[in-house]
Formats: sequence, C-alpha cells, structure tokens
Amino acid sequence: MSKPLITPRLDLLRALSRELVSPPPIWLMRQAGRYLPEYREIRRKAPDFLALCYSPDLAAEITLQPIRRFGLDAAILFSDILVVPDALGMKVTFREGEGPLLERLETARELTRLRVPVAVERLAPVYETVRRVKRELPENVALIGFAGAPWTVATYMIEGSGDREFVRAKTWAYGDAAAFAALIDILVETSIAHLAAQAEAGVDAVQVFDSWCGVLPDDDFDRWCIEPMQRIVAGVRAKAPGLPIIGFPRGAGLNLGRYVAATGVDAVSLDTTVPLAHAAELQRSVVVQGNLDPIALLAGGDVLGAHTRRIVKALGQGPFIFNLGHGVLPRTPPKHVGELVALVRAGR
Ligand code: CP3
Repeated sequence: MSKPLITPRLDLLRALSRELVSPPPIWLMRQAGRYLPEYREIRRKAPDFLALCYSPDLAAEITLQPIRRFGLDAAILFSDILVVPDALGMKVTFREGEGPLLERLETARELTRLRVPVAVERLAPVYETVRRVKRELPENVALIGFAGAPWTVATYMIEGSGDREFVRAKTWAYGDAAAFAALIDILVETSIAHLAAQAEAGVDAVQVFDSWCGVLPDDDFDRWCIEPMQRIVAGVRAKAPGLPIIGFPRGAGLNLGRYVAATGVDAVSLDTTVPLAHAAELQRSVVVQGNLDPIALLAGGDVLGAHTRRIVKALGQGPFIFNLGHGVLPRTPPKHVGELVALVRAGR
C-alpha cells in the first residue's frame, strides 16, 4: 500500500502557525525531571547532571519518559541552558538540590578565555540526542529544542551561583556596557549556532528561556533582553527558515507587548503572573503559551481543575498552547500531570 501523501501536521506546529487547535496542544516546562521516579533512578546512577546531558542514550531516554507516561503533544530535549557556558570553557557543576555552580567571569579581560569557535562542536552529543529522540518519538509528537537567552546565561556566568539580586551582573551591565555587550555578543552568536544545529538535527521548534529578564529596568530591558533576542530570531531564521521560535521572557510584565512586537517571535510563553485578560489581548498578535501556576499542579484536585479551566476558557478561543508559567516542581505528584492532560483534552 502506498503511504498517504499528506502526513497530518503536528498539533503543536498547527498552533504555532496560528491555527486554532481545540483542544489545545499541551506540554510542560521541566516535564522531564526530578518529579518522575524513572528520572531519579537514572540520575542516581550518573556521575553528575551534565554527564546526563552529554550522554545521548540517557538524555534521549529521559526526554521520552514523560511522553510515554502522559502522551503530551511535545517533548522538550533533555539538556540545560548551562551547557553553553560549559562548552565555552567555563566549568559548570550542579550540586544536589542546590542548583548550579559556575567558575565565574571576574573581569572583561577573561572574555578571551571563552572558546567561541569550538563551543558548538563540543555540543555534538546534544545534537545526537535530538537525532535519537526523533527516531523514537511517536509521529504525532513534536520535539522542542532550546537555549537560554543571553542575559539569563550571562547572569549565571557572572554571578557563579544564585545571587537573586544580580549585583555583580547588573554592576557590570550598567557600569561597563561595552564589555558586557561583548559577552552578550558571544552568547548571541553561540545561541544562534546552537539552535540552528538543533534544527539541523531535527527539532520541530525552539524555545528561548529568558528566566531573569524580569529584573531589568526600562532601557536595560531593551538593550539586554529585546535586542539580543531580535538578533537571535533573525540569525536562526537565516539558518533554519520556517523553524517556529517561542520566546519566554519570564517576568517581563508591562514589557511583554514590546518584546513580542520587536522580536517577532512566533509565540510567547507567559509566566504565571500575566493576567489572562492581558494574555488574550496579546493573542491577537501572537500565539500564546502558558501559564498555569506550577503550585496549582502540585496541589492537584479542585485547585488544579479551577485554574486549568479558567485558562482554557480565557485563551482556548485563539492560537494557544497549554503549558505552565514555569517548570514542574520536584515534589509534584506525577498523577497530577496525567489529570491535567485529561482536563485540558476534555475542556472543549
Ligand atoms: O524537561 C525540560 O524542561 C527539559 C530540560 C531542561 C532542564 N533545564 C533540565 C534540568 C530545561 C529546558 C532547562 C532550562 C533551564 N535550566 C533554565 C530555564 C528555565 C527556568 O527554569 O527558568 C534555567 C534557568 C536552567 C538552569 C538550571 N538548571 C538551574 C537553576 C538548575 C538547578 C535548579 C533546579 O531546578 O534543579 C538546573 C538543573 C536542572 N536542569 C535539572 C533538570 C532536570 C535538575 C538537575 C538534577 O537532577 O539535580
């Protein structure tokens, strides 16, 4: 028998091209990870977290775990935004339960230490993971690649670990903008190459995580969040035409509309604090994704039901992808994720 000429398009890609898909496609940030016992089992045996990211076999297996369990509409590549500084030559370690620790950049002079030309070569195992996942993923499930946005990745490189006031990164950005721009340029260039290589290996869409852009005031938001993202969108489109790009400017608040208009992203992922009425307005010009509170997912039951229905009711009439406003929390009962998928699919 001959194959059908037209294979049905993936629901995620239909939504990303502004089609109204009902019920909406659903995937979750951090859908692979510590809340799943099968992830913890693999993690226990690995020497460290980055070893998992650089093992195509294990990373592919972890990427597929939530798809097998919950039948989500998209898988997200198992990796981390901090593989980029690691590939640039800055030592990155992850301490159990404490978050990342980086050998930090102290002065602008140290930028010459970063090995820009070889960074993407060093990320070859990540692209091999993409190829393996693509071979095993069910036909109706999309694969999302990703990178961290330059500002967010720069904060980790400069702070070394989590200073939630961003004293060092801001002092550098405000006080020596030329040197800081040189770091941002390196990250723009490396992110474009990293995202294009994921596209070449087979991802169907990409998301750029700007987890900490919400701490920047006014002009600095434009300079360190919007402008680099404009260049990433243009650079990726030149190398991978047609690849949908989702931006996640977490905490952007009143800057969201300008971020969407100026960067030209295909979709914007909204954090939990974005009011649904505002999200519905943004939806007139861009596909929106989000924004269930991860705590509502952790809570489950009536709380999960009420929050989920409110979002689907407000945003389900326009181009929409259901997601959380931030990642799944480690203590989330896996059963709640199954219940969420059922709720979204039933909620016509
Ligand atoms: O399922 C997925 O979402 C795909 C994989 C993924 C991870 N990190 C795996 C991970 C993705 C897309 C990321 C993105 C990421 N990483 C971001 C942006 C999104 C966000 O959360 O704001 C950031 C800021 C990072 C940096 C990072 N990686 C931190 C701060 C931490 C420690 C805190 C934490 O949540 O554990 C990580 C570690 C990390 N990345 C884990 C996982 C599954 C846990 C590591 C472990 O098993 O110990």
